[in-house]
Amino acid sequence: MPGGVCASTRLNKALGHPLYASRCEGARIIDVEGREYLDMSCGHGAALLGHGHPAIRQALVKAADMGLCCASDTRYHIELAEKLCALIPCAERVRFTNSGSEATLHALRLCRAATGRDLVIRFLGHFHGYHELTYIGGHPPADRLDSASDFLESPGIPQGMAQFIISLPFNDLDAVADALDRQGKEVAAVILEPVDFNSGGIPPLPGYLEGLRELTTQHGALLFFDEIQTSFK
Ligand SMILES: Cc1ncc(COP(=O)(O)O)c(C=O)c1O
Repeated sequence: MPGGVCASTRLNKALGHPLYASRCEGARIIDVEGREYLDMSCGHGAALLGHGHPAIRQALVKAADMGLCCASDTRYHIELAEKLCALIPCAERVRFTNSGSEATLHALRLCRAATGRDLVIRFLGHFHGYHELTYIGGHPPADRLDSASDFLESPGIPQGMAQFIISLPFNDLDAVADALDRQGKEVAAVILEPVDFNSGGIPPLPGYLEGLRELTTQHGALLFFDEIQTSFK
């Protein structure tokens, strides 16, 4: 495995090597040498209730007992979708995916199909997955801030993909208004993390999200909240 890990973020800079877990329990991870760590990231949010919580364990056993119906939907999918629609006021329909990158990829395609437009406004410091649609212009080096929209975040992404991205500073409503005044008719969506957790947790300024709602409505673009970090956590 490159770097000895399955995801590059697991290269643990503080430890100087990856953390190999032997087991996890409650709020703690026990490594292969028996050392115990307090898990401050809750498995990046996947273990919000703690590791090995009895309710989660019970649900997993139940799923295994059902025979792992991987290629079919079950009544549990429907129950969860209904619960999400009840909890999220703007949610009308639900499509489950396997990862955040997959979710943003499909949802952006949907935005383009629904609007018939190609451009996407995104914000500096935000992250929406590793695919070619959004891994552009998010985290450019300081000397590339003026041309962030052209900055490819990985080798292998065709430079041509940058033509679809407008990368702007977060919390600057005027920058969005200017971009929409210039190219509003071509903008399919404005995508953002409502709280920018991929830059340490920067909240929106008061009125900023409402301002985006107004501007996108005025210009017929969709407002896309990527809540992979913010929802239910
Ligand atoms: C806001 C946001 N969107 C999308 C993603 C991509 O999710 P995944 O790593 O599951 O592909 C992440 C991952 O951290 C994220 O923080």
